[in-house]
Amino acid sequence: MNGYGRGFSTLTEERTAESLLIVGAIPDWLRGTLIRNGPGHFELGEGRVTHWFDGLAMLRKFSFADGDVTYSNHFLRTETYKARKQGNLGPGEFATAPATGFLAKLKSIVVPETTDNANVTIGRVGGHMVALTEVPRVVAFNPATLETHGEVSFDDDLTGHVMTAHVHHDDERNETVGLLTKFGKPSTYTIYRLPDGSLRREEVASLKVSRPAYIHSIGLTDRYVILVEAPFTVNPLSFLKLGNDGFIEHFTWDGTADTRFIIVDRERGRAVATPQTAAFFAFHHVNAFERDDSIVLDLVAYPNPDIIDGLYLDRLERGEFKGLVGELRRYTLPTDDTGQVECEPLSEIAMELPTISPTVRRQPHRYVYGQGSVIEGDGFSNYLVKADVASGSAAIWTAQETFCGEPIFVPRPDATAEDDGVVLSVILDTAGEQSFLLVLDGETFVELARAPLPHVLPFDFHGEFFDCVW
Ligand code: CO
Repeated sequence: MNGYGRGFSTLTEERTAESLLIVGAIPDWLRGTLIRNGPGHFELGEGRVTHWFDGLAMLRKFSFADGDVTYSNHFLRTETYKARKQGNLGPGEFATAPATGFLAKLKSIVVPETTDNANVTIGRVGGHMVALTEVPRVVAFNPATLETHGEVSFDDDLTGHVMTAHVHHDDERNETVGLLTKFGKPSTYTIYRLPDGSLRREEVASLKVSRPAYIHSIGLTDRYVILVEAPFTVNPLSFLKLGNDGFIEHFTWDGTADTRFIIVDRERGRAVATPQTAAFFAFHHVNAFERDDSIVLDLVAYPNPDIIDGLYLDRLERGEFKGLVGELRRYTLPTDDTGQVECEPLSEIAMELPTISPTVRRQPHRYVYGQGSVIEGDGFSNYLVKADVASGSAAIWTAQETFCGEPIFVPRPDATAEDDGVVLSVILDTAGEQSFLLVLDGETFVELARAPLPHVLPFDFHGEFFDCVW
């Protein structure tokens, strides 16, 4: 594989609470735990899964206290994990076709069986620390040891085939808000809330839709939930067709259609506006907040969903992938059907895996962190960016032959400035044949410390920083 190909290679080794050598200095005030999730193992019998998103879930943990950091990594022990170890795919994955025949198709009735390979995000459900993926199978684990506790069962009647791995925790209402999509005739989007400590999801709103879209994340303000429905949709009947297509291959793009914003009032439980604009695709929302009678919604946009095709492992291996080059974009949306959608780019620097300070969620924010790719040459995630959406300027961190993961901003306790804190990211150093934890100063974006890991970590997706030291 080319340089970044190491980031799509299997790691079998698991480490527990290893003290890392630190080059530079990690601030003493940094106390807590960064837990990250992503694929770590791609083999399948004699071959391998076809798509990056289908690698086996592996948790990565960095515990910070008194200027030191310890590291652990551990695969989730799921049904999928056990099946893969025996050379079977396990239940249906994102893009790797289930190796099943007609009977299995009949058994699954409308959609493929869902996977428990929860390899996308980390969250909290009903007092459990959990790993999530894009179906309603949530896997609990012990944050201290990373050992798998098992699947969490929700105590409610809500059903869906797809559940966004990205959920929002609202720390004023003490609830988590997410989206379930159920395929049928018609299909439904169900927005739910999950009160802290509870396993009973409650319906906020249920919306019928003839061709449901692939929706990876949602927007949340104090009053509203915003679904961004790109014209990348599925006729659920296509899941019944014979053939061995993976889940996402059933979706089709119609670039002549609009992207629709579905704005749902959280209290009234219904859509209050559905403004539309020219087609675009997005995985990730950045933040949303209310301003006067409008909603300000920042996200990372693409002209179409070709990025998904670019992340098949064989295309990555051939070096065809041309970077995570989304555009940081601001939409201003009306909250009734009389207003217009406005759009403006916020940064000239392409990015993906966008994050903000947790202190400005659902409020106006100034800084957005992300990673991005210079398309020329070995183009995959070769810089970190801090975009200032007020001035339009940006700071970049980059180094030769390194590839960058999602940056997580951790505020300094009692900080008043939005960017007073540190940025944590896991970097693959192909020349040094290892990955390292990178600590940047949040304000200057200058390196404070790096801590080399005992191995090369495959690229991951998303993480969260928690105040507890586990
Ligand atoms: Co994501």
